[in-house]
Amino acid sequence: METSVRTIADTEVARFVHAAGYGFGDRWEPPAPGAWVDAEVDRAVVAVDGDDFVATGRNYTMELTVPGGATVTAGAVSAITTRPTHRRRGLLRQIMRWLLLDSCDRGDVVSILTASEGGIYSRFGYGIATRIASVAIQRHLTELVRPQTRGAVRMVEPEVGIELARPLFDRVRRDRVGAVSRPEAWWPVEWAPPEWIAPRRRFDVVYEVDGQPEGYALYALTGEWTAGHTEKVVEVRDFVAASPEAEHALWNYLLHIDQTVAIRAWNTPLDTSLPWLLSDPRQCRTEGVRDFLWLRPVDTERFLAARTYAQAGDIVIEVTDPFIELEATAGRFRITSRPGTTTCVRTDRDPDLVMSAGALGAISLGGVPPSVLIRAQQMAASNAAAIETADALFRAEREPFAFTWF
Ligand SMILES: CC(C)(COP(=O)(O)OP(=O)(O)OC[C@H]1O[C@@H](n2cnc3c(N)ncnc32)[C@H](O)[C@@H]1OP(=O)(O)O)[C@@H](O)C(=O)NCCC(=O)NCCS
Repeated sequence: METSVRTIADTEVARFVHAAGYGFGDRWEPPAPGAWVDAEVDRAVVAVDGDDFVATGRNYTMELTVPGGATVTAGAVSAITTRPTHRRRGLLRQIMRWLLLDSCDRGDVVSILTASEGGIYSRFGYGIATRIASVAIQRHLTELVRPQTRGAVRMVEPEVGIELARPLFDRVRRDRVGAVSRPEAWWPVEWAPPEWIAPRRRFDVVYEVDGQPEGYALYALTGEWTAGHTEKVVEVRDFVAASPEAEHALWNYLLHIDQTVAIRAWNTPLDTSLPWLLSDPRQCRTEGVRDFLWLRPVDTERFLAARTYAQAGDIVIEVTDPFIELEATAGRFRITSRPGTTTCVRTDRDPDLVMSAGALGAISLGGVPPSVLIRAQQMAASNAAAIETADALFRAEREPFAFTWF
């Protein structure tokens, strides 16, 4: 039977969730009232075969912080699935096309996603803009250098934690390149779903200075205490610090929980200070480094004009969109960076660099220098000076970091 792609009605959200569960190999519960999935239903799309939703996808509206501290509107792609019986027939391709055109129509500057697998999205014009490190520390092998702090860590109940974390996160994410906003409806369930963090093992702490939240951590205690021996592990699930002091104070707390043998954090920034807080930095073991936020420009001109650059300079880049040749994405753009101003305009000058939308997505927040992608033959430069200029312009002050899985 022929499949067709269409948006869903408000009344079809539960069916959408059920279908996405099929795609992920899970039987997802119907959404609770007010759940995030109820938001922006007109941006949710399905492929239909007979009465069945056989592929799903959606955009949420989020914000992305870019170098210089501005935020741009991002279409955040989520719930991408195709039912196992309908795979490799081009349904994802149709859904991605719909989502990108939707982003373009609504004026999103970029499209972003977090991927279940690393091999899917470059063909659709996305590149890896931020990465994460998963780290683990065996407690008995090292000590944390005691912090000089003015405040104190307080344990709070989840409903209190959420209220304190929400505004704190909103402040912190505006200061961190690569961070994406967490919509209001994201918090209640997406933040700590019970299948990810068992309610009886979940703890929330806040670091406060003069009664004001400066840091927040959410962790689970996993592992057991059996026959007089403990194997409990502190699994850090969310970590938000507004200052180096808050960061130090929270790690200090997390590393000094009695009856635990180890601490593990699944998404630390690549430039985390954690190893440098230890008496033996080697004991902060990196268990893995992987892609986190995938990004593609939708409106390249607005995207490149919204950010600042690390120094003054001029460069012309040519961007291709091998997926759908989106007019707003592809073309030649001249970036001019001067102290206090940045411009990006379309041009017909010869390009210094030629790259796909995905390669631009990868360099755009400073997560990888252009010269690395040139070495990997993912972009081309007209000459050596152009490479030097591109590296200097796109250089990041800090490693970009996205915080939020969606
Ligand atoms: C990933 C998934 C959505 C692909 O759907 P699909 O309808 O089979 O994809 P399509 O047939 O449209 O394939 C489009 C292209 O992507 C490629 N592709 C699809 N799945 C891929 C994967 N897992 N890894 C690498 N490439 C993949 C196809 O080979 C095809 O490539 P081509 O256009 O170069 O020939 C589907 O396999 C799925 O639901 N997986 C489980 C849930 C999941 O991981 N979703 C992604 C969440 S971020």
